[in-house]
Amino acid sequence: MKLKFQKTKLLSVLIVLTTVFIADAAKAQTKTWVAPDISKAVINPVASTPTILKEAKALYITNCAPCHGEKGKGDGPAAASLTPKPADHTSAALHNETDGALFWKISEGRTPMPQYKKILTETQRWELIDYIRSLSKTK
Ligand code: HEC
Repeated sequence: MKLKFQKTKLLSVLIVLTTVFIADAAKAQTKTWVAPDISKAVINPVASTPTILKEAKALYITNCAPCHGEKGKGDGPAAASLTPKPADHTSAALHNETDGALFWKISEGRTPMPQYKKILTETQRWELIDYIRSLSKTK
């Protein structure tokens, strides 16, 4: 009898904890994604040249387009099923962020966006930022 009571109590504690956890995770995800100040001033060491942009486009199509779309509009084939939606890489809001902030975001990721610091080299991540900048300009 006593054992049964404890089990019920344990179960209700677990339910409460799970609810709190889920509510917290949902709240965290709706917050705007802001890069830490210290990352914002970092300068892109990779100059944007036609050769770099060509390389970066290939990287982008393979790694980023499934979510962000081939033209960076945030409308890749996987986008429909994702929350939050992949960012529009042609938007003014994104264009207003510094290269350093974008580099930090690409490196760290944020669910469902993967963390690229172990997948792509630093140079590749900077090249991708050159490419994203070229998308904003051609809008
Ligand atoms: C699995 C889907 C997915 C893939 C693959 C992906 N992203 Fe994302 N990306 C997202 C989502 C979703 C967000 C929005 C996250 C948020 O706001 O919390 C995002 C946001 C971003 C942002 C931040 C935009 C802003 O407004 O600050 C950048 C930059 C970015 N992605 C670049 C890339 C690059 C570069 C690649 C390829 C190397 C890539 N992403 C691959 C899903 C993806």
